[in-house]
Amino acid sequence: MNYSEWLTMKALEYRDDVLYFAGKNTLEISKEYGTPIYVINENTIRERYRILKNLLNSEYENNRIHYAVKANSNLSILKILHSEGASFDCTSMGEIYTCFKADISPEKIIYTGNMFTDEDFTFAVKNKVLINLDSVSQLKRLVKIHEDLGREKSIISFRINPEFGAGHHSHTITAGKTIKFGILEEQAIEAYSKAKEHGFEKFGIHQHIGSGVLNAQDFKKPVEKYISIIKKVAKSLEIEFDFIDFGGGLGIPYRPLKEPLDFDIYKDVVIKPFKQLVNSEDIGKPIFKIEPGRYLTAESSILLTQINTIKNNGFKLFAGVDAGFNTLLRPTLYNSYHHIIACNKKGKTSTLTYDVTGPICESGDILGKNRELDKLEEKDVLAILDVGAYGFTMSSNYNSRPRPAEVLISNKSVYEIRKAETFEELLKGQKVPEHL
Ligand code: LLP
Repeated sequence: MNYSEWLTMKALEYRDDVLYFAGKNTLEISKEYGTPIYVINENTIRERYRILKNLLNSEYENNRIHYAVKANSNLSILKILHSEGASFDCTSMGEIYTCFKADISPEKIIYTGNMFTDEDFTFAVKNKVLINLDSVSQLKRLVKIHEDLGREKSIISFRINPEFGAGHHSHTITAGKTIKFGILEEQAIEAYSKAKEHGFEKFGIHQHIGSGVLNAQDFKKPVEKYISIIKKVAKSLEIEFDFIDFGGGLGIPYRPLKEPLDFDIYKDVVIKPFKQLVNSEDIGKPIFKIEPGRYLTAESSILLTQINTIKNNGFKLFAGVDAGFNTLLRPTLYNSYHHIIACNKKGKTSTLTYDVTGPICESGDILGKNRELDKLEEKDVLAILDVGAYGFTMSSNYNSRPRPAEVLISNKSVYEIRKAETFEELLKGQKVPEHL
């Protein structure tokens, strides 16, 4: 894939040296709505969902895609995916609440939390949301809450930790003996047999090995292990599974010229072994589930940010912009690469090497290190790419900076889907004791 194909895949193109995103002039958007601003392309989300759905349908029709809400929980994004037929994966009561506000019904939600509290369980049981447990010890508390509320125990799921993980950074690898998530093979039979004893009649099973996996081969080992655990549990307890969930983790190409995840390999190492399991073992007719977040939303969004200061300290060039790690944390937290391009392409000078830095009072506030860009000037606008997943949701008010607005481009119209925060909102909820 060459550079212009890579940009086209992300709905980006230059027209007369101006960057257009989803058919809209990025300079005009930045002028009208201000910077920094998250700009989201509805079409990409729909397209990615359909690609994935068709892929699953081509192999096994009884499937469900649960969008991982943590990637981007804006109501409009949830509604777009809901209208495509998606289901949802939530990790907190707040995410479930947000789904309800987007008119998503409880049957469409799986609650994969970790370190669940009784309050989490009460909320989920009252609202009839399926719970995916992450420790054998939680079962007893969950059963008690069902009984206290007089609710029927119907379906239960456990998250398995298959010990082989993968991900773009150590913080995002979620399987392995020393990792907090899920239950290990040795406890799997105990978990389901206790659930059976407590009166649960239907079962699901789940794994999620990590996030940002671009080499589909990385799913092979964990899937093999997961399937061997499923076989053991099914055989020794004679249970059937209503669903088998393979989690999310599907990566996207953040770097130019990188190829997207190879879906043929994904099919071979994930979907086909699952089909073989279903065909060869007595485990019922489970729904095949996955929980992508990043794949569905990352490439849907860019962050527009204006340069306020060009600094040459005699040693290095800095392009100082109005977005910082308060706006986009991934480069600072994970050293993640997000490609950065100018919205007014100059192409007339030779390139210079800049650190693109934000206004936060920390040296780690770097959005892009040593980037080759055409000579930049103060007031130029830059686009930071692929920020639709774990961009806004991980933003903060650090340094008392309000969070930015979000706009959605749908069929060439631009809608503001979140207003920028105000200073007043920064203080919301604070109370000053009378003696002060
Ligand atoms: N399912 C479960 C249980 C998860 O924990 C996650 C992500 C997903 C699905 C979705 O994973 P995805 O398809 O988006 O890779 N903040 C990090 C990513 C952390 C992901 C945590 N769990 C980042 O910015 O890269």
